[in-house]
Amino acid sequence: MADRRLIPICASAALRDGDLGQRFDLLAGGMPATGFVVRYRGRVAAFLNRCAHMPMELDWIAGQFFDGDGRYLMCATHGAEYEPDSGRCAGGPCGGRGLAALSVVEREGFIYWEAERDRGIGVTPPGEPEGTSR
Ligand code: FES
Repeated sequence: MADRRLIPICASAALRDGDLGQRFDLLAGGMPATGFVVRYRGRVAAFLNRCAHMPMELDWIAGQFFDGDGRYLMCATHGAEYEPDSGRCAGGPCGGRGLAALSVVEREGFIYWEAERDRGIGVTPPGEPEGTSR
């Protein structure tokens, strides 16, 4: 696989359903930030690691994005809950605002970030200034 637009995040086996997620570095609006990918009901979903309530990362223990039941993604700061497949606000102080979804694919035992697809929301790979085109 020599598609340079796909940035490897982790092996498929690293993500178990409703369990720890995998963080990855990126730039959001040109500033260092993180994204994360989780597995839920067998599928992978990724989001900008930034709560809709306040611009805080969701996980206070790295990779701990799910609540205790593995049902919702939960912000550790004030408890906002998000749907794991869509990032929609499911309750708490997110007040109807959701997480910014990122584009990921799972192929041949690995999970990749399709970074080019997220350029439109101001998210780019580390070291690549916003607006740079390849
Ligand atoms: S910062 Fe996430 S719920 Fe307040």
